[in-house]
Amino acid sequence: MTKPARKFLEPLAIGAPTPYRELPVALERMIHFFPPHVEKMRAKVPDMAKQVDVILGNLEDAIPAEAKEAARAGFIEVARTAELGDTKLWTRVNCLNSPWFLDDMLDVVGAVGERLDVVMLPKVEGPWDIHYLDQLLAQLEARHRISRPIMIHAILETALGVENIGAIAAASPRMHGMSLGPADLAASRGMKTTRVGGGHPFYGVMEDPRADQGPRAFYQQDLWHYTVAKMVDACQANGIKAFYGPFGDFSDNEACEAQFRNAFLLGCAGAWSLHPKQIDIAKKVFSPDPDEVIFALKILDAMPDGTGAVMIDGKMQDDATWKQAKVIADLARQVAAKDPEMAKVYGL
Ligand code: GLV
Ligand code: MG
Repeated sequence: MTKPARKFLEPLAIGAPTPYRELPVALERMIHFFPPHVEKMRAKVPDMAKQVDVILGNLEDAIPAEAKEAARAGFIEVARTAELGDTKLWTRVNCLNSPWFLDDMLDVVGAVGERLDVVMLPKVEGPWDIHYLDQLLAQLEARHRISRPIMIHAILETALGVENIGAIAAASPRMHGMSLGPADLAASRGMKTTRVGGGHPFYGVMEDPRADQGPRAFYQQDLWHYTVAKMVDACQANGIKAFYGPFGDFSDNEACEAQFRNAFLLGCAGAWSLHPKQIDIAKKVFSPDPDEVIFALKILDAMPDGTGAVMIDGKMQDDATWKQAKVIADLARQVAAKDPEMAKVYGL
């Protein structure tokens, strides 16, 4: 028998907070990574926090083995001392089968669990990984008298994780969302690439032979289209959020913007920023386009109860376009609430 529906809303440990019925509303256009073992980077966190929606202390890949403990301690120091305003604080812990995961959880939740919004769990393979972290978090929340649930964000970066994506998304009311991890996923799938996200010049479709025997066009395709679409469906079906992950070529802002925009259009809420210049790219891409917002507001105005059909600028609108308009207008309101400049641009 599967777990009864009501059981999902009971705390998994006596004294742990009641699980969320719904995901708390938050603007999360970029999840900005910092390496907590580097003092210079820790010092920049309060300033960074003013520019981003989420700040994440990374304990996993990119942190050398000999710096894992320093990263953990550095993250705890930041969480204890940095003024972050309403910016969310996340950490990416090491994966479940690593020698560091358990101490990451015990030390971080023990020291600063009350400050922590989300634990990002890498290399998730199935719902069993989420169940384990769910139970552990409940025990730690109870022990440390944490007043609200710490959420889980899974990285989609193993072939088995992609196979089990729906079950992962549905595994717990603690699930916040998922990010695509294109670098690990490429390795896990046996893809023949050496990149962190983005396209590949050889992955594409050749135009049919031309009657004039002229050179044939080759159209590059998006390597990540299938996975992002699958992730968005799994997440939206379960009331959680999908994110594009890292874009590793810091010298190619245009390609980063294109990859982020594909993810945005397909339904993602945000992406990771690994370099300060990716913050503005994410802000631009994941805040809805002002013309789209103005048009969406026109649709909502023209159809106050969301039913019927009207023509606006020669385009047919009905209940379904009203719903699309609402997605854009709701996001624009969230952006406007945070950013008075954008509120003006949107006319909100
Ligand atoms: C991120 O963790 C990735 O592997 O792309
Ligand atoms: Mg990874």
